[in-house]
Amino acid sequence: MDGKVLAITGGASGIGLAIAEAALAEGWRAAVADRDEAALERARGALDPARSAFAALDVTDEEAVERWVAGLAASGRLAGAVAAAGIAANVPALDTPADLFRRILEVNLTGSFLLARAAGRAMRDAGGGAILLIASVSGLRGAKGRAAYGASKAAVINLAQVMALELAPNGIRVNALCPGPVETPLVARVHGPETRAQWLRHLPMRRYAAPEEITPMALFLLDERKSGYLTGQAIAVDGGYAGSGLMPPTN
Ligand SMILES: NC(=O)c1ccc[n+]([C@@H]2O[C@H](COP(=O)([O-])OP(=O)(O)OC[C@H]3O[C@@H](n4cnc5c(N)ncnc54)[C@H](O)[C@@H]3O)[C@@H](O)[C@H]2O)c1
Repeated sequence: MDGKVLAITGGASGIGLAIAEAALAEGWRAAVADRDEAALERARGALDPARSAFAALDVTDEEAVERWVAGLAASGRLAGAVAAAGIAANVPALDTPADLFRRILEVNLTGSFLLARAAGRAMRDAGGGAILLIASVSGLRGAKGRAAYGASKAAVINLAQVMALELAPNGIRVNALCPGPVETPLVARVHGPETRAQWLRHLPMRRYAAPEEITPMALFLLDERKSGYLTGQAIAVDGGYAGSGLMPPTN
């Protein structure tokens, strides 16, 4: 692919797909990877086929991630990478099976690491780039039911800080974006009516975000001209959630 290439894992749905769409509008080429082949087919129909590429892969498969990123680096200028593949569960800590805990860390944390490491190596050889890890406000604050998910996202934030300082000499910036609740298929699965009501009570803006409200910050963090001195940060786009304390009454 000609031009700047943006690699996006979890790019076939929700926030990742919205980032792919916005990136195409800003002149990037989008390389979308996802393990859900049906969602990939739908994404193929939604994104400009001349400037997009699609790959079926599981981000926990080290070899597959390495192969995919190496292929992108060989065929174009890999200037950006977004780790958006993620899974969630809403289970109290005492009821969380170890297998579920391990699986959530494997996808959200190890999967993000594998993409960031592969992209970082390719960008180091190409003279720089930007890596964006999609974390969550659940990695900034403790929230009920988020023992595994929150731990995975807090670790993703620290991973971004570590990689930011190690890769700064190579011209590679690494940041974490921490969305609040966003209307995506993941949230439709995990947020039942009670969870949704609890979120709405604790959000200063009293509403969930649309994926398109997360993408401007993602594109900003990927753009060397706009955020060239910004690295190692965890930025919340969350309707005021992470900064809130005692709330005014709802009526
Ligand atoms: N929606 C929210 O409220 C919210 C809030 C904060 C953070 N996030 C994070 O944003 C990211 C995107 O979430 P979303 O809400 O758009 O969810 P989504 O389910 O719409 O999209 C996630 C995509 O990741 C893919 N995926 C999952 N596991 C994978 C794996 N092992 N390998 C490859 N692909 C895999 C899924 O197939 C899916 O297409 C996730 O990391 C999520 O934790 C979401």
